[in-house]
Amino acid sequence: MEYAEDTPSSPLDRPTIGEVIGARYGRRDVLRGALAMTAVATLSGTAGLLRGGGTAEAAEGAGVPASAWSFNFPELEAAVDETHHVAQGYDADVLIRWGDGVEPGAPTFQPMSQSAEAQDKQFGYNNDYVGFVPLPAGSDNADHGLLCVNHEYTNAELMFPNYQGTTEEIANIEMAAHGHSVIEVARGADGKWSYKPDSPYNRRISLRSTEMTISGPAAGHARLKTSDDPSGTRVIGTVNNCAGGLTPWNTVLIAEENFHGYFKGENSDPAEAENHKRYGVPGGWYDWADYHDRFDVGKEPREPNRFGWMVEYDPYDPTSTPVKRTAMGRFKHEGAETLENADGRVVAVMGDDQRFDYVYKFVSHGRVDHNNRSNNFGLLDSGTLYVARFNADGTVDWLPIVFGTGPLTPENGFESQADVLIETRRAADLLGATPMDRPEDVTPDPAAGRIYVMLTSNEKRKPDATHPANPRAGNSAGHVLEIQVTDGDFTSLRDRWDILILAGDPDDPEVGAKWGKATSEHGWFINPDNSKMDNRGRLWISTDGNSQEDSGRADGMWAIETDGELRGSSRHFFRCPVGAEMCGPFFTPDDGTLFVAVQHPADAEGSTFENPVTRWPDFDENMPVRPSVVAITPKGGGQIG
Ligand code: FEO
Ligand code: CA
Ligand code: CA
Repeated sequence: MEYAEDTPSSPLDRPTIGEVIGARYGRRDVLRGALAMTAVATLSGTAGLLRGGGTAEAAEGAGVPASAWSFNFPELEAAVDETHHVAQGYDADVLIRWGDGVEPGAPTFQPMSQSAEAQDKQFGYNNDYVGFVPLPAGSDNADHGLLCVNHEYTNAELMFPNYQGTTEEIANIEMAAHGHSVIEVARGADGKWSYKPDSPYNRRISLRSTEMTISGPAAGHARLKTSDDPSGTRVIGTVNNCAGGLTPWNTVLIAEENFHGYFKGENSDPAEAENHKRYGVPGGWYDWADYHDRFDVGKEPREPNRFGWMVEYDPYDPTSTPVKRTAMGRFKHEGAETLENADGRVVAVMGDDQRFDYVYKFVSHGRVDHNNRSNNFGLLDSGTLYVARFNADGTVDWLPIVFGTGPLTPENGFESQADVLIETRRAADLLGATPMDRPEDVTPDPAAGRIYVMLTSNEKRKPDATHPANPRAGNSAGHVLEIQVTDGDFTSLRDRWDILILAGDPDDPEVGAKWGKATSEHGWFINPDNSKMDNRGRLWISTDGNSQEDSGRADGMWAIETDGELRGSSRHFFRCPVGAEMCGPFFTPDDGTLFVAVQHPADAEGSTFENPVTRWPDFDENMPVRPSVVAITPKGGGQIG
C-alpha cells in the first residue's frame, strides 16, 4: 500500500546544488554505473539468465563461479500467480491465518458472521512484523518459542461480506483486527511448525482494550492529556503496527506507523495545528471517529499525540502492560532494531516512513544488565535520540535532538524535551537532517559494524533536489544505503555511508539501477521494505511494490551479497501470492527457519470479499483470502540459504 501519497512531507528539501555538484555519487556517476550494470546484465542475459531458476548458471553467466556466492539455494523464478512459491529444496507452510484462534476460548472463525468480541481473541488482519523469542526464556532454543506478530491495518473490502461502508460493528471489528498477537509455536519431529491454540502465553494486544502506559520524557505532559486520561500517562491500544524489533533482553518493540490515518474531524486546538499538519493528522482513512470520540480531533485534539511512538512489551508475561517509550521519538515509525553496543549501551536504529523524512538512532544512557533482566525494562526511557545528516563527502553526522541545544529552544516553540519529542519531525527539520526516499527498515549488522537502510521509493523527488544519498529523481524503485560505523562503535556521531544497490530493472537504462554483477533477471527487485541479517551475518530483504498490475512479478524475499566481488548481487528466494506484500522476515537462532508474513494478499483493483483475485491460503470458496504467517524450512532440515 502506498501510504505516503496524500500526506505532507518535510517542508525542507535540504540538498543544495552545491552539495550535489560536490557529490561522489553525482548523477553522471550513477548513470555511468547504471549503463555498466546494464551491459553486464545484457551479456549474462544471453548466456545465463534463467526462466526457471538455478543461480549456479546465472552466476556463471556473469563470469562468476557459483562458489563465489555465500548463498547456495537455487534461485526462484520472478513471476506472480495466485499462490506463494519458495526456492527448490524448501517447504513454505502456512502457520497461522487471520481469524485463527489466539487467546484461549477464541471462537472458530466465521467470516460471514464476524464480531468484534470474536476478533478480540483471534489472529488479526495484515500480519507485518514477526519476532521469535525462545522458550524457555533465556535459552537459545530454535524449535520452541513465542511468535510475536503485528497486525498493521485492515482491508475492509476483502474482510467483510457485501461491504458497503463502515458501520459501528465494522469499525469495532476493524479496531480488534489491528494490534499484535503472541502465539506459542513449536517444531515437531517431522520438522513442521505448529502453534498451540490453548497456550497460556497466547495474547492479543488490541486497540480496543489493551491498556498501555506512556513513559519517558513526554509522559504526563499536558499535550498528552485527554478526557479519558487526565494523567497523560495511560492510553488504550496501539495502531498501525508496522515493523518492530527485539531488544537484547528479548522484549518486543512494535512500531506505530501511519497513525494519522485513523483520525477525522476539524482540529479544535490551535496549539496543535502545525504539529498535526506535519504528521498528516487527520488522515481520514477510517471512520472510527463516527463511533469513538477519541479519533475525532475536533473533540480530542491531543489524542493523536499519544500515537506515533515505539511500544515495548514483555512477551513472556501475558499480563504485562505495554509501554510507549517517548524517548525514542514520535514519527511514523517503521520499526526499531536494537543492539547492545560494545560498551553495553543499547542502540536502536529507526526509519520514519514518509517521503523526505529521516533516519534516526537512539542511544541509551544506561547499560544492559545481563544478570537481572527486569533491570533493562526502563533502559529505553533515558537516552539520546539522533537524526542523520548524510553529507556529500560520504560521511554521515548524527545530530542530537536535545531540548536547549541549537535551534531546539523556546524561540522555536519548544519549552521542554517533551515538546521536542512530541514534535520530533519539526525538531529534525530545524537541525538540518537529510530528507530521504521513505526510510523503512533500518537494520544493524553488529559483526560488520554496519547499518543497512531500506529506502523504498520517492516518486516526488525532483531532478533539482537529488542528493548523493538519494541520487535518483522520481525514484520509484528505491535503494539501499549502507552505513559503516566508526571503529565498530554504534554510538559514534560520525560514520561513513555508501550505496549498496539502486533497485529496479537493470535492463532498463531509464531506471538507473545498480546491482552486483551476478544479479539475474529474477534477482532484481523494487521497493525494499523490511530487512534482516541472518545469524551468519547475511542480508535478506523483503519488498512492497513488485506486485503491481502487469509487472509480472510478485513481492517476496531476496538474499543480497554485501562483500567481495559479488557485493550488491541479489538472488530471489520466496514470492508472495498476487496482491500481497512481504513482511516480517525473522530467522530462528539456528537459521533453521525463516518466518515471513504475507500481508494484504489479493489487494488489487476490483478485488473483493466475494471475488478476490486469490483465495490464498485456503482456496476454499467458503473462505475469504486471509493474510497469514508462513514458516520456511529446508526439506530434510539444515539452514536457510
Ligand atoms: Fe508499514 Fe513503512 O510500511
Ligand atoms: Ca513496512
Ligand atoms: Ca509496507
